[in-house]
Amino acid sequence: MTLSSVRLTPRIGSELKITKADLLGGSMATDIRALLVARGAVVIRDLHLDDEELRTVARSLGDLRLGSAKRASDGKLLNEGDGGVLKVSLDPKVNPDYARFLFGNHLWHMDGTYEAVPPFATLFTPFRLSVEGGDTMFASTYAAYEDLPADEQRQLDGLRVVHTMQAALFPAKRDCTPEEFAVWSSYPQRSHPLVWQHKSGRKSLVLSTSGAWIEGMHAAQSHDLLQRLMVHATQDKYTYRHQWRLGDLAIWDNTGVMHRAMPFEPGSQREFHRCTLNGEEAITAPKRELAEAS
Ligand SMILES: [Fe+2]
Repeated sequence: MTLSSVRLTPRIGSELKITKADLLGGSMATDIRALLVARGAVVIRDLHLDDEELRTVARSLGDLRLGSAKRASDGKLLNEGDGGVLKVSLDPKVNPDYARFLFGNHLWHMDGTYEAVPPFATLFTPFRLSVEGGDTMFASTYAAYEDLPADEQRQLDGLRVVHTMQAALFPAKRDCTPEEFAVWSSYPQRSHPLVWQHKSGRKSLVLSTSGAWIEGMHAAQSHDLLQRLMVHATQDKYTYRHQWRLGDLAIWDNTGVMHRAMPFEPGSQREFHRCTLNGEEAITAPKRELAEAS
């Protein structure tokens, strides 16, 4: 059996046509993973997975994360949801820990930039939708890198970016209190290469709102370059906007795709269930050409 899929845009996103039984059976998992890496985001309609089925699909595709996230306020370990299924909701009654950080999801980001090995992929399925808005957008940082001129690629290949929680959250909540800012600042920062040479051979930009500054560069230049790259990478030609229906499943390759939630009404009961697949490779800078190194 071969996979049947339809491209949603030329550069990112495919809709996979597969029955629930075939998906849960796992025999197509290798091909689905390949499609995921090639297309950045894969959506499947009309599945209506329950939590156990969501876990089953996640385990077929990778190493399901069971949880080690730390709450910033007191360092307490957070469970990554019930057996690896996290409820994503702004309602503190549904998820008191994450509701305080999810407002940053409206900005383009990659998950886990504070980790040495960011998550490989995320599976996301709606249980309740907002009345208005709430689409999810995906941007291919593979495609964005591939379209840059070769001389600019070479220049970016050698740069490193420091990622911080306050860089990720402050733009989304400029009226925060000093206490909130202090909590964000208590998270460890992490330096990553700006360009990721994947084991697959493909390269991508490691961009996210968490990217605070480029090491060794003047602050103004660093700010301008990160902003310019973000504008470049989020052009329409590199993005796919998913309009959710109940029953959908979206899977994205977190290592080469940014995502963001579009705004929805305050007080919305919007609730998604999420599984995260652990990362499989550290972010590695491209190898310098021998001629350049000498
Ligand atoms: Fe996210």
